[in-house]
Amino acid sequence: MKTKSKSLFSKICKFYCKKESSTVDHEIRDVCKDLLLTNDQLKLVMERLAEEINRGLNKETHNDSIVKCFTTYVQDLPNGTEKGNFLALDLGGTNFRVLLITLDGQNFDMKSKIYAIPQILMLGTGNQLFDHIAQCLALFVKDLNLQDEVLPLGFTFSFPLTQHGLTKGFLVRWTKGFNVSGVIGEDVVALLEAAISRRNDIKIDVCAILNDTTGTLMSCAWKNRNCRIGLIVGTGSNACYVEKTEKATCAIAGNYNPHKPHMLINTEWGAFGESGVLDFILTEFDRVVDDNSLNPKKQLFEKMISGMYMGELARVILEKLVDNGLLFGGKCPTDLKKRGKFFTKYVSEIEADPKGKYHNCREVLAELGARNVTDQDCENVRYVCSVVSRRAAHLASAGIAMLLNRVNENNVTVGIDGSVYRFHPHFHDLMTEKISELQNHKFDLMLSEDGSGRGAALVAAVASQKR
Ligand code: BGC
Repeated sequence: MKTKSKSLFSKICKFYCKKESSTVDHEIRDVCKDLLLTNDQLKLVMERLAEEINRGLNKETHNDSIVKCFTTYVQDLPNGTEKGNFLALDLGGTNFRVLLITLDGQNFDMKSKIYAIPQILMLGTGNQLFDHIAQCLALFVKDLNLQDEVLPLGFTFSFPLTQHGLTKGFLVRWTKGFNVSGVIGEDVVALLEAAISRRNDIKIDVCAILNDTTGTLMSCAWKNRNCRIGLIVGTGSNACYVEKTEKATCAIAGNYNPHKPHMLINTEWGAFGESGVLDFILTEFDRVVDDNSLNPKKQLFEKMISGMYMGELARVILEKLVDNGLLFGGKCPTDLKKRGKFFTKYVSEIEADPKGKYHNCREVLAELGARNVTDQDCENVRYVCSVVSRRAAHLASAGIAMLLNRVNENNVTVGIDGSVYRFHPHFHDLMTEKISELQNHKFDLMLSEDGSGRGAALVAAVASQKR
């Protein structure tokens, strides 16, 4: 009797264990193994990124450096006394937005509108793009009946800029989905002002141009005095941080005050890896995604982290698994074969399924044309998504751990924005855990709600107060 009940118990146990964790096939793990990074590898990434940052900051090596470390000319963080109405433009993420922000002590009010930038404009001419931006701005201002006021404006322009002051920024390269002709090498503020004056129907005073990382840091610093780092993990990826002015010898031009002890540096870490220093972790899948991108061989670190590429990376791996007969009985769902069809949001949705449940996963697979998939297929698909997103979180963590070492203070807050960080169900936890393993300072990761819009208004506010 005793033995009988024991064997029944072990049968039940086996049944439940099996149910609870359909395990990932070992062939699948094998195909994905190069995407799992050890702490030793991540520490090497930190070391190499630190070297590249030194090259970017130093005026002798800045011109040839890969991680540019651009001076932002933002030297004052907001102190909460900023007041008034400010406009902000936010270009470079998933959406283009125009915002009106009213600051008054610790209160702020925001009205904003999202405008589409049709893909044809993302690949068109500079005049077309800036005329469109000016038109959206004019519509917004007129809607609010503010066309007769001279409004200070902060422009969040989330692409690499060489700045010669707070209102002069020359585009170095386009990234993400943009490739607009006639803008590289030009002062983007001048292009915006020219487009506004071509219309001649609104009065705008452009007080600042800034990167979204800068906006995110400023917006976080407004509430939290310990914020020293701004991070974006969205369509693209990048970070900025507070550096000692004396270390940024590249900051030679422009109207900055070298006597102020600190300055914000926009690292533009997305470009990291272009000199080959990340080849030791690049996988065959990264190379496929890179080869088919708008900017092959560029922005390699960004391509391993950000939302513009995350879904595509997962798709390329899944396609290989199907081709090797390891998924869906070797039959590829129609849309899984098509570039760009496995959206990054699918990664978040699939990973949001509770363990052992595959509701979202089945929905996504049905959208791609795969029906009647097995639990085992779903478990494997989820594994692929988790490997891709974990690696992204771990690489972003290596970058942040390196910056925390540089800032070298305890209790630093990192302000973070971007769709991947916001919507992926585990990104925040993965980063918190990994950053703690990679360095010893105490830190906090804080969602900087609406960083790039609010931050632009704050930079404009600080700048217009000084004027
Ligand atoms: C751009 C950065 C930007 C980041 C996040 C990158 O592609 O080069 O300037 O901060 O995307 O939007």
